[in-house]
Amino acid sequence: MEIRKAVIPAAGWGTRFLPATKAIPKEMLPLLDKPLIQYIVEEAISSGIEQIIIVISSAKSAIQDHFDRSVDLEQTLEQKGEERLLEEVRRIAGLDKICYVRQKEQLGLGDAILTAREIVGDEPFAVLLPDDIFDADVPVIKQMIEVHRRYGGSVIALWRVAEEGTRRYGIVKPKKIEDKVYQILDVVEKPGPQNAPSDLAILGRYILAPEIFQALRVTPPSKGGEIQLTDGLALLLKQQAVHGYEFEGTYYDAGKPLSLLKASVALAVKHPEMGADFKEYLKRLIANL
Ligand code: G1P
Repeated sequence: MEIRKAVIPAAGWGTRFLPATKAIPKEMLPLLDKPLIQYIVEEAISSGIEQIIIVISSAKSAIQDHFDRSVDLEQTLEQKGEERLLEEVRRIAGLDKICYVRQKEQLGLGDAILTAREIVGDEPFAVLLPDDIFDADVPVIKQMIEVHRRYGGSVIALWRVAEEGTRRYGIVKPKKIEDKVYQILDVVEKPGPQNAPSDLAILGRYILAPEIFQALRVTPPSKGGEIQLTDGLALLLKQQAVHGYEFEGTYYDAGKPLSLLKASVALAVKHPEMGADFKEYLKRLIANL
């Protein structure tokens, strides 16, 4: 079955970025010249997704404003002859495949996905987490849609981590079935190095079978009272196939201030307009350290 819909959970508190995220959703923090959520929406659209469901909470109206039209701003830009900016602002507002659902309480990633179940219905769908940004020739979720075409079921993005990563990510117990593709035998949320079943971590791109909703409904909350998607996946893989896929591309963790800064620097040096200037600046800065 084709993957037509994508869920983007964007209801979390963003505590790792406080105080920057006191009044601004963390998904609106910029990576160079675009907010994080725009990278995610563009990845979904360029992967052929037809409907994007963003899960928000009460404090996230800036996300809706970002993808809405701003007639006043368009007029101002038009009067000033700012053609390029006007085009960009109109392009963003033209991304009209987006709808929103509200998560009433922040009860975790699993609960955020459950919030979207009525709109998703009974079909496989994509999930993209805005904390994880990729630079890839073929968008990562598109690569995973290809894997789904071959194997069906659910597909999760995998990335090899060092010991520290076992505390930061969900970790899988894999069985290799072909280059870069694994059957997943088990998943554990942030197990730490002692209990990690492998060094393959789950990153924030998933293709999920609709049966994940039944699994999440009976998933007990874990620490902090949150329903973890990983725990739902652990139930799902007992009933049907879940595959893991080591994607091609570069991963940037945009979930913490230092890693977002690193991602900004890495993308800035490659940027077609800013790159040359920025590299000069970095060289001077490093020379003076
Ligand atoms: C979430 C998931 C985790 C996954 C990670 C990827 O964790 O629960 O399994 O490895 O995203 O970024 P979070 O970043 O919300 O702590």
